[in-house]
Amino acid sequence: MEDLSLHILDIVENSIAAGANRVEIRVVEDTGKDILSVEIRDNGKGMSKEVRENAVDPFYTTRTTRRVGLGLSLLSQSAKEAEGDMTIKSKEDEGTTIYAYFKHSHIDRKPLGNMAETLIVLIAGNPDIDFLYEHILNNRAYSIDTKGIREELGDIPLSSPDVIEAVRKDIQNGLKILSP
Ligand SMILES: Nc1ncnc2c1ncn2[C@@H]1O[C@H](COP(=O)(O)OP(=O)(O)OP(=O)(O)O)[C@@H](O)[C@H]1O
Ligand SMILES: [Mg+2]
Repeated sequence: MEDLSLHILDIVENSIAAGANRVEIRVVEDTGKDILSVEIRDNGKGMSKEVRENAVDPFYTTRTTRRVGLGLSLLSQSAKEAEGDMTIKSKEDEGTTIYAYFKHSHIDRKPLGNMAETLIVLIAGNPDIDFLYEHILNNRAYSIDTKGIREELGDIPLSSPDVIEAVRKDIQNGLKILSP
């Protein structure tokens, strides 16, 4: 995995597979504390104790199509490579929160990558799921919540090309203003 946005895409795919209809993604960069953290919270079916205890093992998966599950183990590995770690909080029938942090300035800390594109892929590909993206950089913040956008749109689907283009612009501008 080359950058954090691809890790995020992968972790959110788990949330979608778990039947979530709301996924909240929070990226916090604190350059004073030298920490970058990523939190992905969903309201999917959650993990049983057995799944939770084994989820970081690359040879553990509840998939039936292949016998390795890499998403969580790769993120955990990436965090550890940058003096960080990853934790899983999950409750059956309530949801799952994945939290990963990294030493911001660490030479092996992967760049965030193209977060706008990752969000567009998720939003356009899953028009019935609400996504919150919040990005805090020191004392500045950008956030977008498709729940509010959906409500404003009324009958127009969130996946219509004009809407997706407007959402893309909003995210690109928001992230540009955040770290000029
Ligand atoms: N958000 C989640 N909600 C419920 N269960 C989850 C969630 N994320 C992961 N899991 C469980 O943890 C297992 C391991 O997840 P992981 O992403 O590491 O591998 P995978 O999804 O099985 O395979 P891959 O990511 O390689 O396609 C999954 O098979 C699933 O059972
Ligand atoms: Mg996965």
